[in-house]
Amino acid sequence: MNITTKNIINDKNPIIRQKSQIVSTPYSEEDINFALDLYTYVKNSQDDTLVEKYALKPAVGIAAPQVGVLKQIFAVVVYDENNELHEYALINPKIISHSTKRCYLSGGEGCLSVDEKHIGNVPRYFRIKIHAFDCLTKSEVTISAKGYLAIVLQHEYDHLNGVLFYDHINKKAPLMPIEDAIEI
Ligand code: NI
Repeated sequence: MNITTKNIINDKNPIIRQKSQIVSTPYSEEDINFALDLYTYVKNSQDDTLVEKYALKPAVGIAAPQVGVLKQIFAVVVYDENNELHEYALINPKIISHSTKRCYLSGGEGCLSVDEKHIGNVPRYFRIKIHAFDCLTKSEVTISAKGYLAIVLQHEYDHLNGVLFYDHINKKAPLMPIEDAIEI
């Protein structure tokens, strides 16, 4: 599946609110290639020339339900606070632990499937550990993430449960500081 902006559904489509299915093992070539296609979309969307050529919406991550596929698969391409690159194409990701400390992204979050701007702080765990199968390295991985990378992983993970970033915003006081949370 060559993923383009045309394949991406938005939050007007009820599929975006559905839960994704666990992918059965052994993982098929089709599922692995689909995870890699999601990864390719994100990678290409960070290349100015390709963005212009194919009218891509820039992204740091995309989850399967965003292209109408209800499987537990997502991909991220993230440069962290130290400009270090983290890229994954994950099947059956599971958050196995998290900090009690929270964080939130300065300026709020955005999403390929959300056209309107939703202003507000989105509370996230500052540190998480995720276990998954990574299609880039073809291996089971346990990812220890913090800060920006942890935020992106939680955003994509939420998509697998039909949750969107603005669900976490305090409706009455969207910009109220989150107690004990670090601004990233
Ligand atoms: Ni999103």
